[in-house]
Amino acid sequence: MNDSIRLGVLVSGRGRGTNLQAILDACARGETKAQVVVVISTHPEAGAVERARRHNVEALIIDPKQFAAPEDYERELTQRLRERQVDLVCLAGYMRKLSPLFVDAWRNRILNIHPALLPAFGGQGMYGHHVHEAVIESGAKFSGATVHFVDEEYDHGPIVLQAVVPVFDDDTPDTLAARVLEQEHKLYPQAEGRLHIEGRRVKIKGASPNCPH
Ligand code: GAR
Repeated sequence: MNDSIRLGVLVSGRGRGTNLQAILDACARGETKAQVVVVISTHPEAGAVERARRHNVEALIIDPKQFAAPEDYERELTQRLRERQVDLVCLAGYMRKLSPLFVDAWRNRILNIHPALLPAFGGQGMYGHHVHEAVIESGAKFSGATVHFVDEEYDHGPIVLQAVVPVFDDDTPDTLAARVLEQEHKLYPQAEGRLHIEGRRVKIKGASPNCPH
């Protein structure tokens, strides 16, 4: 039985890294037994890189463009993660689709956070603002955040935890995104805290929906 879950956080592009920050803060406050051992970014200017270094967490830049094929890039990812004995890979603003090869190597060991209530408003092209625009456009009265395991399809793997927020008539994608993001920051560390790894098996302790109503 492992006491501390060793996390490897993946980010892509020049994202803000606020979910990584929430995880780092929860770890620093001792609210989760998880520990971020490495952050891997596709881009040197990602907010997550600076945030990791401020917390004395190793940050690596691995640029997929430097590799002949996506599989080569992902093999490098796996090697770096394994070298650091990572138990669980957390996608935090990582928008690239992972190949079946990578998913298989880390089966049930990759988490993602998505800014909507899956299985609605997920899939290819559903990221960042596109999600909130689609939610408002649909007339849905609730949205939220979902932490789920990653499988071969976009936003499709088993759901670990969800949090719900209301959608108001005068919401814009920005106001809705801010309300959802607040929940994301609570949800991701909470999800990691509930996972329990035995050998290669991941178990979820007391998982129940997190609904503010
Ligand atoms: C978060 O809102 C996350 O849910 C979203 O990207 C943002 C990253 O923000 N992810 C997706 O849309 C994945 N499909 P952050 O860089 O501040 O953590």
